[in-house]
Amino acid sequence: MQSKENILEVNHLKINFSTYAGTVKAIRDVSFNLKKGETLAIVGESGSGKTVTTRSIMGLLANNAVVTGGNVLFHGKDVLKMSQKELEALRGAKIAQIFQDPMTSLDPTMRIGRQIAEPLMVHQGVKKSKAMAQALEMMKLVGITDAENRINDYPHQFSGGMRQRIVIAIALINYPEILIADEPTTALDVTIQAQILDLMRELQDKISTSIIFITHDLGVVAGMADRVAVMYAGKIVEFGTVDEIFYNPKHPYTWGLLSSMPTLDTNSDELPSIPGTPPDLLDPPKGDAFAPRNPYALKIDTEKEPPFFKVSDTHYAATWLLHPDAPKVTPPEQIIERQKKFAKMQQQLENKKLHHKVEETEEQP
Ligand SMILES: Nc1ncnc2c1ncn2[C@@H]1O[C@H](COP(=O)(O)OP(=O)(O)OP(=O)(O)O)[C@@H](O)[C@H]1O
Ligand SMILES: [Mg+2]
Repeated sequence: MQSKENILEVNHLKINFSTYAGTVKAIRDVSFNLKKGETLAIVGESGSGKTVTTRSIMGLLANNAVVTGGNVLFHGKDVLKMSQKELEALRGAKIAQIFQDPMTSLDPTMRIGRQIAEPLMVHQGVKKSKAMAQALEMMKLVGITDAENRINDYPHQFSGGMRQRIVIAIALINYPEILIADEPTTALDVTIQAQILDLMRELQDKISTSIIFITHDLGVVAGMADRVAVMYAGKIVEFGTVDEIFYNPKHPYTWGLLSSMPTLDTNSDELPSIPGTPPDLLDPPKGDAFAPRNPYALKIDTEKEPPFFKVSDTHYAATWLLHPDAPKVTPPEQIIERQKKFAKMQQQLENKKLHHKVEETEEQP
């Protein structure tokens, strides 16, 4: 059922890949929705299915992909059943995507102003001079310095951070309803990462685009996301508001992700990670796929898949630990440190926002 405020609904999506080694069960019954103007973060380790999920939203699945169930409804219409022509219109104007490596999404032979203007000319039929003027405005909006003089430069003349800003400008020029950002900062160095995240937060305030933000780093989610979906082995295992996921996490996998978030005083080479490896999706285990790595696993975890248990109206987790008859366990102590760090990050972001607001009011005559 399509509720009014959801612009996107993914229902019981199942995707396999045919390979020489057998059938990879990459997406194993994923459901979520996206509301107008919100940012949804999808977090999870490598191979959990984040990219495949979002590629299905764009109708961009690999040739060996087989959708074995479910649907992806954009304003009620199934993307997985759209014609090539409908998909092209969707991708150009309604749903845009930015990737990890800006260089792969830019055309090295085309001047950047033209690249930013192109989607306007192709999808909205805007005349070149007007499209170029809008491209210049967008360059300024995404913080490309000296935009007037740089509009005719080529991608290689820009730094990595500036290139990612160009990619964001191209993605936003048509004011898409959904922006998918797949690890948009991981290829950039830490300072630039922070700047791009700041930019995305600012843009989110200015443009009411809904954002699906993919990351394996829970720390990045602070201040970016409204809600978080935690993925493991092709499934969503926990879903909640950002505060619910950080301050009241219920799934042991989420505990693991939180524990592996760096604290302020750990340096990155001693970053703990969740012991063990994700399951082989050619032959996913029976029961809860996280059980072999879960120190709190119950007997039933190896026998039967856990359903979603409701924690609040907005918070669900698929773990047998939430069954009324399950033994009571408390999350590992070390996540308290991470929660403190997270609270600090939230506070810093709040201060930053206030600071911006003060600056804005000062600028006014
Ligand atoms: N074309 C393909 N053929 C076979 N298997 C595939 C294909 N594309 C993805 N997969 C598999 O699907 C699973 C999910 O992959 P996906 O790229 O969505 O992971 P991810 O969560 O985005 O990981 P990462 O954080 O590394 O980007 C993985 O096991 C991957 O190997
Ligand atoms: Mg990915």
